[in-house]
Amino acid sequence: MTSIFDNLQEAAAVIQSRAGEHKPTIGLILGSGLGAYADTLEDAVNVEYGDIPHFPVSTVAGHAGKLVVGNKGNVCCAAMQGRVHFYEGHNAATLVFPARTLITLGVDALIVTNAAGGIGHDPGTLMLITDHINLMPDNPLRGVNDDRIGPRFPDMSNAYDKGLRALAKEAGASMGVKLAEGVYAGLPGPSYETPAEIRMLRTMGASAAGMSTVPEAIAANHMGAKVLGISCITNKAAGLSEQALSHEEVTETAKQVHSTFIGLLDATIAAIGEAPA
Ligand code: HPA
Repeated sequence: MTSIFDNLQEAAAVIQSRAGEHKPTIGLILGSGLGAYADTLEDAVNVEYGDIPHFPVSTVAGHAGKLVVGNKGNVCCAAMQGRVHFYEGHNAATLVFPARTLITLGVDALIVTNAAGGIGHDPGTLMLITDHINLMPDNPLRGVNDDRIGPRFPDMSNAYDKGLRALAKEAGASMGVKLAEGVYAGLPGPSYETPAEIRMLRTMGASAAGMSTVPEAIAANHMGAKVLGISCITNKAAGLSEQALSHEEVTETAKQVHSTFIGLLDATIAAIGEAPA
């Protein structure tokens, strides 16, 4: 029987055969409305998710499905344009296969981005994720553990790496962008939260609510990779404004923040590239 470990080797080998000399060290998972960043990589090789063995394919409008391997200055990146979500019906272990593949490929820092509803922060804010609360009724590590991939009980006390956060903060400051910080609550979706749920999340200490990121962050920590999480606050969370929530508002705000977001990622990747390992 083939194992996840074997499947990861197979997927990474197919990507590497397409990517030639590229050796990505930074992985990017680009959320709703933020995918165009992948198209800014230089000397890029595009690989459709459908061409990568064992990759789950997204069904959501606005989530294209391709991996782009290319350079940002002298840093080689592998960027996922689009991701699959728990609400699409996948279990968490399936969702994290792409993140695991990037790490198998050699990525040791994973930048995970998302659109999120703001509980403490206003729309248009970019928020560094300091920690998460997993409210999805699953964990990607549930099931038999394969010690070749990571330990049974991984530590999560620095899940969103402090050092990477400091670099991102400096990168933001260098371009005059003050980044917010806060705890990301990962919900199953796909319905948005109710106002009562948002009051609960606020009481729990969450600053943002979203439907992604948490499984990938768990899997990356499991494999020993560092994670940087950035939420684009696209709307006030349910009950905090008069307005009904809509996917259109989410993608519209993400679009407005896009150029700031690109600048922040560029500066952060350059800083990671220059930082001593
Ligand atoms: N809730 C959950 N997920 C989201 C939201 C929200 O308000 N906005 C964007 N993604």
